[in-house]
Amino acid sequence: MSESIRNKIEEISKELEEHNYNYYVLSNPTVSDFDFDKLLEKLIDLEKQYPEYLQPNSPSQRVGGTITKEFKNVKHKYPMLSLGNTYNEEELRDFDERIKKAGISEFEYVAELKYDGVSISLTYVDGMLKQAVTRGDGEKGDDVTVNVKTINSIPLKLRGENFPAEFEIRGEIFMPKSEFLRINEEMRKQLIEDGYDEEEISERLLKNPRNATSGTLKQLDSKAVAERNLDCYLYSILGENLPFASHYDSLIEAKKWGFKISADMEKLSSVDGVVKYLSKWDKKRHDLNVETDGVVIKVNSFEQQKFLGFTAKSPRWAIAYKFKAARVATILESISYQVGRTGAITPVANLKPVQLAGTTVKRASLHNADIIEKLDVRIGDTVFVEKGGEIIPKIISVDLSKRDLFSEAAQPTKYITHCPECNSELVRSSGEANHYCHNELGCPPQVKGKMEHFVSRKAMNIDSLGAETIAQLFDAGLLKTIADIYDLKKEDLLKIDRMAEKSANNLLAGVEASKKVPFERVLFAIGIRHIGETTAKKLAFFYKNIESIKNATLEQLLEVGDVGERTAQTIIDYFSDKRIEEVLNKLKIAGLQFELSDEQLSNTSEKLKDLSFVVSGVFSKFSRDEIKKTIEQNGGKNVGSISGKTNFVLAGENMGPEKLKKAEKLGVKIITEDEFINMLEE
Ligand code: IVH
Repeated sequence: MSESIRNKIEEISKELEEHNYNYYVLSNPTVSDFDFDKLLEKLIDLEKQYPEYLQPNSPSQRVGGTITKEFKNVKHKYPMLSLGNTYNEEELRDFDERIKKAGISEFEYVAELKYDGVSISLTYVDGMLKQAVTRGDGEKGDDVTVNVKTINSIPLKLRGENFPAEFEIRGEIFMPKSEFLRINEEMRKQLIEDGYDEEEISERLLKNPRNATSGTLKQLDSKAVAERNLDCYLYSILGENLPFASHYDSLIEAKKWGFKISADMEKLSSVDGVVKYLSKWDKKRHDLNVETDGVVIKVNSFEQQKFLGFTAKSPRWAIAYKFKAARVATILESISYQVGRTGAITPVANLKPVQLAGTTVKRASLHNADIIEKLDVRIGDTVFVEKGGEIIPKIISVDLSKRDLFSEAAQPTKYITHCPECNSELVRSSGEANHYCHNELGCPPQVKGKMEHFVSRKAMNIDSLGAETIAQLFDAGLLKTIADIYDLKKEDLLKIDRMAEKSANNLLAGVEASKKVPFERVLFAIGIRHIGETTAKKLAFFYKNIESIKNATLEQLLEVGDVGERTAQTIIDYFSDKRIEEVLNKLKIAGLQFELSDEQLSNTSEKLKDLSFVVSGVFSKFSRDEIKKTIEQNGGKNVGSISGKTNFVLAGENMGPEKLKKAEKLGVKIITEDEFINMLEE
């Protein structure tokens, strides 16, 4: 019996690995996702029942779930060196000359793309992945094996038979461009829902695929890694007595063992061939789904590599050629300063329009005062603008030879000291890169931005009051603070352009209805910096009314999950502002909810503290919204989509099969409505 179970486990594992290889390495699927998942489920079930047969390299390990406390720092058997760089054809030809001068006349090159990710060294023993270690400082790196096992294109078990008993293979783990865009898109949606503004969103999004790869590999929860669909190209094999004579042959062989080897590698007979390869890929690389920053050129023969040897830091038989980032020179015509909803000032370079990598560039971000000072960029300067992995073009440097020292304009740039919108003095706190305008209640873009936020759907939900009307009412002097919304009179509204009787009535009805919006949303609506929808809810249910929040000390505020020191200080600063006190008083008099309702109070607890739920389907005892509310009132959190971090999926009737599949795949616990009710009654 047990023998047959073991065989069954082995058989399913083999089949899954085969499908996996076809899909992720060969890009040639041989089974539907559904059948694959069913088979994987069967394997996971059997392994749960018979844990004695669970193999460390079972395909079930790819879904992740292992939590690492910290990564072990381990020494590399062979140090992980770096490569010398070249930036133009001349330097590349110098490299070719050095090889010839060393005494090698007949040789081949192999050219490969230089993938921009995180380098990794994989050790295989008897065909099994034993260890995966990052480069670290080259001598020692982090053991990230559990995370690497979730990367589907990395074989856990090798194919065929004639691989060496023990060897290391190195390569580059990367996040495909499409995956990078997908994750950022999802994060953006979630952040907008949570009430963050553009500036805060761009701070939180993944910066570029390389950064994202390295951040992902450092995750302590391997399930989170599995969700990010990293990929890996392998490009060098190391070991004792390896059975091949050249680099090219070694990779062709490695491909047969199941490794993903780039199809863009080419064997070339001379440096001229390399130059052609460079110019071909300089353009074509943009079409790939992986970021590349250059080409690596290697002498093919292992014997010749050995003869050439190493310098202290890098091999003499290989070199990197770095592509020039798309770069162009243009003139800085002026600098303007934008004021965001939170009062942050962003300097923007207005450029003489110029073509760059297929788009017309007119503006570039200058980020903050430090960057301007470091670049010493002045109006009228000729500047170099570059487009790297990031989306917004950057000013890289100034062409000083073109600076006209006698021109009036060529004065060092003085950063503005006063707000361009309201003329208040700008403040730059220590540790902050940005200058801020603190005139929250008088600076037009801030006031209008705050009002737009106040009326938004997840806040007071006054959809009859749009951005355009806010601007009109603001310009007419009818709206100075959010409190004025509750003083609007019909006769005033009718004086506004294009405002008819019906829209005025609608608007006033919306304002009236908003007085019933519950406390947690009012707290979100008033727009305290760093307080998104979730934090507002936590604060509301923890403190129950606005007076208690106002009276809380910094230490007390830190007791609320989600509130860090910076947020706590912002809350204290907010409530100590006299003008804000006045606005809040007016809102209170107008009848807004500044405390939890009796019903909310009788339903709150901490029973679901720190637990996250995905609620899906139709329920018999409560509506979905009621269930969601109950979760929050009891300290839990509702999340939109299932991830490795989700604690429970609360499944009703007709829950989508995709969600169910995902929950099962990620091992997230699925509970019924009754089980949920039990959790609260326990
Ligand atoms: S070969 C002795 N080949 O570039 C070093 N490296 O500075 C041999 N890289 O850390 C490296 N693509 O992370 C090689 N096709 C490729 C590569 C590649 C990317 C990275 C690697 C290494 C760095 C070299």
